[in-house]
Amino acid sequence: MTEKGRIFSGVQPTGNLHLGNYLGAIRNWVGLQADYACIFCIVDMHAITIPQDPAALRSATREVTAAYIAAGIDPSNCIIFNQSAVSAHAELAWIFNCVTPMGWLNRMTQFKEKAGKQRDQALAGLFIYPVLMAADILAYKATHVPVGEDQKQHLELARDIAGAFNRQYGVEFFPLTEPLIFGAATRVMSLRDGTKKMSKSDTSDASRINLTDDADAISQKIRRAKSDAEMGLSYEPERRPEAANLLAIYAAFSDEAPADVAERFSGLGFAAFKSELADLAVARLAPINAEMRRLMAAPDHIDAILRQGAERADAIAAPILAETKDLVGFLRP
Ligand code: TRP
Repeated sequence: MTEKGRIFSGVQPTGNLHLGNYLGAIRNWVGLQADYACIFCIVDMHAITIPQDPAALRSATREVTAAYIAAGIDPSNCIIFNQSAVSAHAELAWIFNCVTPMGWLNRMTQFKEKAGKQRDQALAGLFIYPVLMAADILAYKATHVPVGEDQKQHLELARDIAGAFNRQYGVEFFPLTEPLIFGAATRVMSLRDGTKKMSKSDTSDASRINLTDDADAISQKIRRAKSDAEMGLSYEPERRPEAANLLAIYAAFSDEAPADVAERFSGLGFAAFKSELADLAVARLAPINAEMRRLMAAPDHIDAILRQGAERADAIAAPILAETKDLVGFLRP
């Protein structure tokens, strides 16, 4: 194990990587590289818990890779790879399935939301999604996982699974991984409804800023973002969710507190503020967008990075998996 802590995190390659993924997750990872050994995964096995088009899945896998790198994650330092390329994830998930009570999984709010009313129709993979996530983290004995609010319950479960395994086999083998929560992480809301999270599955493309949007698209979406009828600006998330969202996005880009931004622009109307925000967002996102395009134009280069990342990931996970199998009693003939 390295002296520094080890970070593991992942993003699903399900298309439409957007500003919420960037400001809420990827951007915050960039600063971790100096202090931790970092592993950033593209979790393609999680993606297929919802049916995916194969060609789109491949392309989205490259796109997330490009976004990581364009955002400033350095592949010569961090490990960047796609989950399915390292077999330890699937193998460890199976072993964890056999120490995880169904009751724990039944309590997962994300499963309940995604499964909807027809629980019997939900795929088994969706049900055991959190077990695979525990395997992702524990295959590397990661000490810290940067997570957003919505993944806290899954990380808690990963700790429970580590404990269940350790108890079952009478060992102190898997660590209880700590969440890493960013005070500054921004929960980006829909541009069409300030009470809903910005989402890749929203049918309205105007509701989100995709990382692949060009400057014109970004400006237009911000200028057309929903606002309210009040004069001036104030940061009141409960009462004025749309204003608060635009202020929070500005604040994330300018590294300020949203309330300070509100105070500075309190005299401006929405139109003038949106124009300021559009300029700032374009300035910050344009270089990322350009770098993503440059990388996406060379898929062989992206694949080489992923291949090398998978090799480095496997070198860490394989011995941990081998030891796990020994503990379980799997014969190594
Ligand atoms: N479930 C996470 C999400 O949807 C993605 C993920 C998979 C992940 N495995 C992980 C995040 C391990 C952190 C650590 O956002």
